[in-house]
Amino acid sequence: MRKQIAAANWKMNLTYQQGEKLLNDILKAKISLSDHQETIFAVPFPYLIMANSEVANEKNYSVAAQNCYNKKSGAYTGEVSTEMLHSIGIRYCVIGHSERREYFSETNEQLATKTDLLLEQGIQPIFCCGESLSVREAGTQNTFVETQLRESLFHLSGDQLKNVIIAYEPIWAIGTGKTATADQAQEMHAHIRSVLATQFGNDIASEISILYGGSVKAANAKDIFSREDVDGGLVGGASLVTDEFLAIIQALK
Ligand code: G3P
Repeated sequence: MRKQIAAANWKMNLTYQQGEKLLNDILKAKISLSDHQETIFAVPFPYLIMANSEVANEKNYSVAAQNCYNKKSGAYTGEVSTEMLHSIGIRYCVIGHSERREYFSETNEQLATKTDLLLEQGIQPIFCCGESLSVREAGTQNTFVETQLRESLFHLSGDQLKNVIIAYEPIWAIGTGKTATADQAQEMHAHIRSVLATQFGNDIASEISILYGGSVKAANAKDIFSREDVDGGLVGGASLVTDEFLAIIQALK
């Protein structure tokens, strides 16, 4: 069975002390994860080492960065390289989140480079894709997401793609409380998997974990995660609330 993942995206929230407490409260619940399940905490850069030490002895609990730069190293003040992330033991990195695409003009081409740099360091990208409300209302979401995948991931080999986690996040559902229906999520996830299959073949496409993100809550996680091509979620707001995120972890199939 492909990996089922509950990923928390804290975004730019919580102080160090609040984050440490949230992690401890979640880990104290001692939800045991099976071999095909993983919980990942995508925390702000300053908390990565702390978070990694908190999950160090917890089976299938891991830490992700929320971004990396698309250059190997050099005079890029304030940026963080994939080599730096590797040097502190980070194994996952979110890239292409819609907020970074919007606020920092990140392009599919830049994300292709970030993917390459992460894979070179043995770090698994959590590649975010998803359409805006206007694209959804125009009914062109499938083509839009397909282009994001083609331009950022289709240069990879099949063996490289196996290390990539996809997160489908309809922008109109992020932080809005307007969640995509389980049918809408399944429809897009199946489309993503079929697009990957055209380039990499069915066997590899069937191995890729595709997470849903966009107002995932304890109340809707079980239904959404139950769908065939949904392999868990990338969770924003609800991941900041202990009981909410514990319920979301327990909703993994
Ligand atoms: O990366 C996950 C995030 O964009 C979803 O946010 O608050 O709608 O769960 P939220």
